[in-house]
Parts: sequence; structure tokens; C-alpha cells
Amino acid sequence: MARDELLDPHLGAQDPPVDALNPTPEEQPTEPGLRPRTLEEFVGQRELKERLRIILEAARRRGAASDHLLFAGPPGLGKTTLAGIVATEVGSTMQVTSGPALERAGDLAAILTKIGSGDVLFIDEIHRLPRAVEEVLYPAIEDFQLDIVLGKGPAARSIRLDLPEFTLVGATTRTGLITGPLRDRFGLVARLDYYEPADLQSIVERTATIIDAPLSTDGAREIARRSRGTPRIANRLLRRVQDYADVEADGNIDADVAQRGLAVFGIDGLGLDKVDRAILDSIVRRFAGGPVGLSTLAIAVAEPTETVEDVHEPFLIQQGLLMRTPRGRVATPAAWTHLGLTPPEEAPGPASLFRRQEWNTDSG
Ligand SMILES: Nc1ncnc2c1ncn2[C@@H]1O[C@H](COP(=O)(O)OP(=O)(O)OP(=O)(O)O)[C@@H](O)[C@H]1O
Ligand SMILES: [Mg+2]
Repeated sequence: MARDELLDPHLGAQDPPVDALNPTPEEQPTEPGLRPRTLEEFVGQRELKERLRIILEAARRRGAASDHLLFAGPPGLGKTTLAGIVATEVGSTMQVTSGPALERAGDLAAILTKIGSGDVLFIDEIHRLPRAVEEVLYPAIEDFQLDIVLGKGPAARSIRLDLPEFTLVGATTRTGLITGPLRDRFGLVARLDYYEPADLQSIVERTATIIDAPLSTDGAREIARRSRGTPRIANRLLRRVQDYADVEADGNIDADVAQRGLAVFGIDGLGLDKVDRAILDSIVRRFAGGPVGLSTLAIAVAEPTETVEDVHEPFLIQQGLLMRTPRGRVATPAAWTHLGLTPPEEAPGPASLFRRQEWNTDSG
């Protein structure tokens, strides 16, 4: 039984068995096949694409490595995909690693000594880079130099190696956790936004072609609408609906089949996942609509504070279901309505906040 079901039995009743955000083991091998390989194929994020196109084209014309790039945004929006595209577009190879994998300075040094001229070094979850490793990274990305310390104590000496020019591409779900000095060394810090339904529809249609799922335009629209603005979720929902269509219908996916399939898998009309719903439910039912502090809320839904803050909140705020106020999180009238409840007479708004009872002591 999922943790939040244990906490709140009535939540479990209509809960989706799909965890909507992280790639499942089943998806990991197939995700690469669905990844767009060129900027042209990459759907949406128009401004970001335009900036990237110019930067990469300029680098190509100069025959130099492009400036270092940082992609930030919630999971599943295409950060890893873009890193791959950068490498393809400049015709270079990509070395992949991640913040938590680089435990010691030597781990990074080992990768840097293998890097080729013009290569792309992709560091996923770059906000989790240990401090000591970050110190080695600075001269490497600024002056393409690597300082290696040999030996320990008084006999220790350091040697300096020249590195070929390369492009660092970092990905993070938390720009706030990237140290200033590291952030300043990127030539472009690009934030990915949730996708518009029209873009998600194109993504679903593209994936349907790749996985051979007969999908009507209405069917694609229905799946796109409930995908939480996230391509990874759009692809996942398409697969679940394809399963449903194969087993419970004739294999074709139209709006009706999509709706029935999504209902079976517990995806609600707005595409909220179970944690999104648990957050709203908790604010509304346990804390009378809020304000409630972030850490209290995280405990109430049994999720880490960072997950609530980075993954769930941005989407709920974007959907107009949640407000961040100086006193904590507040559910909007739309959240009450979405849960099938009547919003209180005096809807929580900035004016009423200061008269409300406080439910928590932390500021969030
Ligand atoms: N713009 C896009 N067009 C088409 N497909 C996309 C796009 N962005 C992402 N996808 C699809 O969504 C999936 C997830 O994308 P990706 O792995 O790049 O996300 P991410 O931002 O790196 O997520 P995480 O933070 O979890 O690492 C990929 O399989 C890819 O096929
Ligand atoms: Mg990724």
C-alpha cells in the first residue's frame, strides 16, 4: 500500500497506480527511442530553442565549442533530451555523468582527462555536486585547465594539465541550490516551462507514430490535456491508453477510449497525480484551506519537502489551484471545486490571510 493511502484511507480509493513523474524501470530503456535528436524535432519551448539555435550555430561557424549551458526545470520536461541535442547539433560526442556520481575530485578528473576537443560533458543533477568536485570544475570550465594534486601532506605537489575546449551542459531541477559561482560560469541558464496542450498533443502524436499506436486527433488532445504539462507523462499516458485500447477496445484510440482508459488509471480531469491531489486534499480538509507551512504540508503528504516544492507546487500554482503566501500555502477556490467541495464563503485571498487562524509555526 502506498504511504499516502496508509495516511489517508479515502485517498487510496480512487488512486492511480501510476507514479506520474519519474521514469519507471519499464520506461527507461524505451525513453531514448522517443527522444528527439535534433532541435528541429524538439517540440515546444520556442524561446529556448531559438536561443539555443543561435548559440549552437555561432559555435559551429567559429569551429569552437559552444558556451556552457544549464537547463533547469521540473522532471520530465526535456533537460536530458536537450543535452543530447546539443551534442548532435554540434556533431560531437557526449560524456554523461551526474552530481551524485562524482563523489571525489578524482572522479571528475578521470572524466576530464578522457574528454575530447569539442565534446559535450553532461552533468545531470548538477546541484548535487560535492563542494570539492565543484572546485575542480571551475578552472576546468573557465580556463580548460585541470589541477591534479599528487601525494599528501608536505610532499604533495600539484600539476596542471591543459584540457581541450569542451562544452559543459548541466541539468537541475533546483536552480536555487546551484551556487552563485557555478551558475555564473554558464553562458546560458535556460529554464524549461510546462508545455502548452497543443505542444503536448504534437508530442503524443509523434510518439504514437513511433510506437505504432492508432491515435485520433481527439484522442491525442484528450491525453495531452491530462499530461500535467509534461512530455514524459504524456508518453506514459499514451502507453497506458494503448494498453487499454488493445485489451478493452479494438486497439484504436479516440477521445472516448482515451477518457475511459485514463479513468481506469486514475488520472483526473486536470491530470493531477496522487501526490498533487493529496497536497490539495490535505490543505483543504486538514488545514481548512490554509495557510499552511511547506514543511508541515510535506509531512502531511509524507513526501520530502523538496519534492513538494520542486515537483508538485509549480504545477499546482500554474494551474491556479495553490497560492504561495508569506504565511504558507493556501488552496484557491478552484482547488475546493476540483475536489468536489464548496469553497468557504470568504475565499482565502490576500486580504483574509491575516485574519485566519494559523495552523503552523514554520514559515515554509
Ligand atoms: N520537447 C520534447 N519533444 C518531444 N519529446 C520530448 C520533449 N521533451 C521531452 N520529451 C520526452 O520526454 C521524456 C523525458 O524527457 P527528459 O528525460 O529529457 O526529461 P528531463 O528533464 O531530463 O527529466 P529528469 O529531470 O527526470 O531527468 C523523453 O523520453 C522525451 O522523449
Ligand atoms: Mg534527465
